[in-house]
Amino acid sequence: MPDTTADTPAAHPPPTGTARLTPRVIVRQLNQHVVGQDDAKKVLAVAAYNHLRRRQTSAESGVRLAKNNVLLIGPSGSGKTLMCETLGRILGVPFVSADATGLTQTRFIGEALEAVLQRLVDAADGDFALAERGIVFLDEVDKLKAAPGESRASNGEAVQHALLRAMEGSLVRLRALDTSHWLDTTGILFICGGAFVGLEEVMESNRSYGFISAGGGDDRAILDRLNARIKPTDLFAFGLIPEFTGRLPVVARLDALDRDTLIRIMTEPADALYRQYQAMFAAEGVRLDIAERVFEELADLALEYRTGARGLRGLFEELVTPVLYVIPDQPEVRQVAFTSVYTGPTITRGPPRGGA
Ligand SMILES: Nc1ncnc2c1ncn2[C@@H]1O[C@H](COP(=O)(O)OP(=O)(O)OP(=O)(O)O)[C@@H](O)[C@H]1O
Ligand SMILES: [Mg+2]
Repeated sequence: MPDTTADTPAAHPPPTGTARLTPRVIVRQLNQHVVGQDDAKKVLAVAAYNHLRRRQTSAESGVRLAKNNVLLIGPSGSGKTLMCETLGRILGVPFVSADATGLTQTRFIGEALEAVLQRLVDAADGDFALAERGIVFLDEVDKLKAAPGESRASNGEAVQHALLRAMEGSLVRLRALDTSHWLDTTGILFICGGAFVGLEEVMESNRSYGFISAGGGDDRAILDRLNARIKPTDLFAFGLIPEFTGRLPVVARLDALDRDTLIRIMTEPADALYRQYQAMFAAEGVRLDIAERVFEELADLALEYRTGARGLRGLFEELVTPVLYVIPDQPEVRQVAFTSVYTGPTITRGPPRGGA
């Protein structure tokens, strides 16, 4: 196996400023793209910071630092994938995401896992040393649970077993064309994500034994926090095998997005929907104005449809597509203003736009 610890200069040096990527800085950068989810951001930022530092600290102190793979739990459309993708960009390490369900649909789990790791190497432009510091995001690990009544050797469980070794750190042989290389997964950070529908109920029933009750004037806040904590036994009862949950020591929870957060998502991030459509209109020489009330109405619709933030784009499209359709043929349109989802836009015309 190649000695990846050798002190040769990496083909891809870490981006300048890596040393200054403290958890706080990471959170600040996440904030530019992901709205809310402050607790999850902090947990993820600390894990990412440790990930960047682990190799160096291990070398300096002689203490081998165990890796803290992360489990992200949150409802569909709450920003799990977005958060991990953004994190990969911030850290400047190769990043791949894959659906755990994709692994269950193959009979050759080992090969499917190899393919994921091969993509990580590809993301590192073939640089194994860089890939060995990368991040693998495995989405939908909650779907790996054994369904009630299913045989013990269910496919989901088989995938959990296959993942165990890679998550802990092992040598995986990657066969590309006629060559084969060993990839050491010891330094790769695994982030697992899932909606874990039904976990609340599991926690509720587990609590009947494990509940820590407040005796008199105890600090309620601390107790509530402890009781709200997702314990490995909860994940076990949910259907993940103990060895698997044991390798995910860091758990971060994302909340369902509330109305206010949905509104902020449409307007605040650098690439927010509103900004995207304003840019699209501006490219036609037209100013787009959307009143606050419209965003409130859109948020209410998204809540009603239970699509999380994912539904916002479709709703937005529905709103503006009719105008986007006619604008290119109507050079005298200068401004489009929406005051409600339920009334048509106000269109202001002027002298024809230049060039049209
Ligand atoms: N907190 C957030 N801040 C900004 N945008 C968000 C947020 N949550 C979701 N979105 C938007 O919604 C889309 C879907 O989010 P994402 O794919 O991250 O959801 P998810 O939690 O991974 O859902 P699933 O469990 O269904 O995979 C994103 O592309 C993004 O535009
Ligand atoms: Mg996702």
